Amino acid sequence: MKILSLGSLNIDLVYSVDHINLEGETVSAKELETKQGGKGLNQSVALARAGADVLMAGCVGSDGKELLETLRDSGVDTALIHKVEEPSGHAVIQLADSGANSIIIYGGANLEVTPKMIDEALDHFCPGDYILLQNEISNVDYAIRAAKTRGLNVAFNPSPISKELVTYPLELVDIFILNELEGQTLSGTDSTEGAAVLAALAGKFPKAAIVLTLGDRGAMYHGNGQDLTCPAHKVPVVDTTGAGDTFCGYFLACVMKGKPPQEALESASRAIF
Ligand code: RIB
Repeated sequence: MKILSLGSLNIDLVYSVDHINLEGETVSAKELETKQGGKGLNQSVALARAGADVLMAGCVGSDGKELLETLRDSGVDTALIHKVEEPSGHAVIQLADSGANSIIIYGGANLEVTPKMIDEALDHFCPGDYILLQNEISNVDYAIRAAKTRGLNVAFNPSPISKELVTYPLELVDIFILNELEGQTLSGTDSTEGAAVLAALAGKFPKAAIVLTLGDRGAMYHGNGQDLTCPAHKVPVVDTTGAGDTFCGYFLACVMKGKPPQEALESASRAIF
């Protein structure tokens, strides 16, 4: 069994700052680091590290060499990634002393993913395989439909939130992995409380398994007649960028190995730290 990780690849420009910049404020960064990121790349790397057989599909520009190298070094198959004229996507990330972050993404090549590329990528997969999607590339709605039509298990991390998100064929999703804010948007609930958000999601998507991440309060799961919780591991916060992506990758890799959801939750929450 293998997984298609169809998603974004970003060059992350990480600026270390005392605090996240306020409106109208100019601050000097203490350091600038360039890293390989994007939710798609981060999740692909996590899947591979957790032992999944992962092929990534997406688009990079001619500046994407290190993105591809990072994936290959982690054991991700990059044969389905296209090189396009548009420069690679990038992210401008403020990383505060507290470990909090603030991210602006520029889509670039990530927005060049076409239905044809998606179909060609899916040709390499069989019914029962998995696809993992986030919301940083073009044609996510097409990918959900096409993957489901071919009998793949569809896992969706609806991040970042966009206004189009609620128009996607979300009823076709088998596994949602999302945080409380994303859960509120998808379910339409006003509640900010984890259990209520999970209940609202379960009501709206009764066929799906749902993993709700709660940051330092851990994670909750609903699906297959089970309601589970998993506490977070308490450690000093250094950098939360990509923590949700690591969680996604480890959780799904465990599920693909046939592990019970409680074990998948625990493996994913340990992997973050
Ligand atoms: O989830 C973290 C990621 O979000 C970063 O790597 C950045 O590229 C943005 O996609």
